[in-house]
Amino acid sequence: MKKLAIFGSGSGSNMQSILDAIKEGILKAEIAVVASDNADAYILERAKKASIPTLHIDCGEYVSKFPKEEQERLAADLKQRGVDVICLAGFMRLVGSPLLKKFPNRILNIHPSLLPHYPGLAAWEQALADKAKVTGCTVHYVDDGMDTGAIIKQAEVPVLEEDTSKSLHERIQIAERTLYPEVIAQVMNQ
Ligand code: GRF
Repeated sequence: MKKLAIFGSGSGSNMQSILDAIKEGILKAEIAVVASDNADAYILERAKKASIPTLHIDCGEYVSKFPKEEQERLAADLKQRGVDVICLAGFMRLVGSPLLKKFPNRILNIHPSLLPHYPGLAAWEQALADKAKVTGCTVHYVDDGMDTGAIIKQAEVPVLEEDTSKSLHERIQIAERTLYPEVIAQVMNQ
């Protein structure tokens, strides 16, 4: 059975969809650990409810930096746990070479736009401001840039006349919940 690590800083709805896909037998994997840089993140509650081990990612005083030493420590820890694939799910720090070297083409991210459009924060608001007719979500390999890694698969979401930031974001998140488990299954079997 392949082992996944999920990294998240927030609510963990994508983590939940991965867990649900495993329970339904759609994804034949195990979540070995959920790691967060935010001790109050709801993703950790979800993990605890499902009896999944959790890890605190200690970034000290840094608000957005992911210190190299912490990445080295995590990479070693995840290897020891036998983790095959790392899935970023709302993880708000940029992953760098210590983790990328240890998990080449084995770190994935989900982003709420059709990349290369609208990288970075609040991508659905960028789509609205741009008056885009269609946006969506993308699962891509992680490299050391911000949302720049090779695209694996995308799902389109139409932008409706009456859309608000909230309604559009919600529909993108619904699309994410199907796309991410599907792509993880595909990558795991490569
Ligand atoms: C998702 O919308 C994802 O696209 C982005 O961050 C959000 C995380 O949400 N990278 P959640 O924590 O999985 O609920």
